[in-house]
Amino acid sequence: MYKKPKLELQTTTLWEYPSQHYGPKEQGDKAYRGATPSYVIWNLLQRYTRETDVVLDPMCGSGTTLDVCKDLNRRGLGFDIAPYRKDIAKADARNLPIKSESVDFVFVDPPYSTHLEYSDDPQCIGKLDARTGEYFAAMDEVIAEIFRVLKNRRYIGLYATDSFKKGKPFSPIGFELFQLLRKRFKPVDIVSVVRHNRTLKRRHWHTSAIEGNYFLRGFNYLFIMKKEQIGGLC
Ligand SMILES: C[S@@+](CC[C@H](N)C(=O)[O-])C[C@H]1O[C@@H](n2cnc3c(N)ncnc32)[C@H](O)[C@@H]1O
Repeated sequence: MYKKPKLELQTTTLWEYPSQHYGPKEQGDKAYRGATPSYVIWNLLQRYTRETDVVLDPMCGSGTTLDVCKDLNRRGLGFDIAPYRKDIAKADARNLPIKSESVDFVFVDPPYSTHLEYSDDPQCIGKLDARTGEYFAAMDEVIAEIFRVLKNRRYIGLYATDSFKKGKPFSPIGFELFQLLRKRFKPVDIVSVVRHNRTLKRRHWHTSAIEGNYFLRGFNYLFIMKKEQIGGLC
């Protein structure tokens, strides 16, 4: 039987774990398209939070963050425009029903342009093409809202990848989102997370990448930022 490797703290800026979840249980739902690898969240919570801290995921998807919070005795708070399960509340990440400066850590894995169809909700940011300004204007509002609800001197992890579609211009979403984060937060580090999704296991995708002279997305960015507000300025 396939045995998952040991879950341990990462010490370099290149992270790899060949499974969406760790241990015998699942965190979130690996069948949910776009589920975050739970070891990424586990590593962030180990480093940047303490037991009973409030951890917010404003785009919670299948609830991976909430399950990692349970494992580590953190208080998870999950919102999504299209809640997937009962412990996730419906809200737009641009307008969260929570007080300013009330959370200890934020993890967010937003849609990366129009790659996946998440829901029919017209407010879903996954309906906005990153080749237009609309996607980044919406993400700027999400980042501003995260800044509002996060306590000072606390951290955020944003997980993202660039967007490439055959026949369309390349969209460097990672760099663009980093610029938006930089407007408000102080950079702490940038991690490259090796992707292990099903697409990358299909031989014909690799053949097409060679024939079409393009690259498949092999990694995600993990931007780690800190809120540092001194007298109203960041
Ligand atoms: C990449 S998925 C998150 C995956 C999640 N971390 C997991 O492990 O399952 C992005 C999520 O953003 C949500 N979303 C899109 N627009 C939103 C908005 N305006 N407000 C809140 N959530 C939104 C989608 O419904 C989707 O669940």
